[in-house]
Amino acid sequence: MLFPEKTFALKDGRTCVLRPTSPEYAEQMIEYMKKTAGETPFLLRYPDEVNYTVEGERELLGRILEDPGQAMMMALVDGQVAGNCSISGHGPKRKVLHRCSMAIALYEEYWGLGIGSAMIGYLAELARQIGFEQMDLEVVADNTRAQALYRKCGFVETGRRLRALKFDDGTYHDELLMTRLL
Ligand SMILES: CC(C)(COP(=O)(O)OP(=O)(O)OC[C@H]1O[C@@H](n2cnc3c(N)ncnc32)[C@H](O)[C@@H]1OP(=O)(O)O)[C@@H](O)C(=O)NCCC(=O)NCCS
Repeated sequence: MLFPEKTFALKDGRTCVLRPTSPEYAEQMIEYMKKTAGETPFLLRYPDEVNYTVEGERELLGRILEDPGQAMMMALVDGQVAGNCSISGHGPKRKVLHRCSMAIALYEEYWGLGIGSAMIGYLAELARQIGFEQMDLEVVADNTRAQALYRKCGFVETGRRLRALKFDDGTYHDELLMTRLL
């Protein structure tokens, strides 16, 4: 969906712009997915699993932008992509129309500046406008930084998926399920 840009001041005084992730950012988004997957073990993908073409990514971003039931938001600092955050529903079945899932990741150099809190706050507003009644997410149980952000933003823990992830080094990791009522 299209939504208005929002500007706010970061903790270090710089200005951050939140805006829809539009198709012209396809190349930067592929780079972002690859790099962030290497900076943290807490995202689902490994860098070598990011194999999207610029054309395919452009089409996908165009479809998301035109879909009134989804929102994808990027954060720009000094014109550079700092991170991305999105909500998507669970399809047209009436029993799940009230729920959406949320995902977020920032480049490491932009952690701790307040971008995560601002993005989730704005996405919650958009989710409410779309008609969702709750936002759900999964977070790796070891990812305490993200959990601190989610708790601060009103998410509560609703469950635990045992051994949800198996890393390349053979270790298993649980996921926590969290929900924020809107
Ligand atoms: C998780 C992530 C999105 C957080 O975003 P962020 O912009 O750094 O978050 P904020 O700066 O808004 O901080 C939010 C809260 O996190 C907590 N926090 C900040 N730094 C922290 C740290 N080093 N350790 C633990 N908690 C911390 C604080 O409670 C903070 O709130 P406060 O500033 O009001 O005290 C970001 O670190 C990231 O992209 N990580 C890698 C990808 C990832 O893990 N994504 C989530 C997958 S489920």
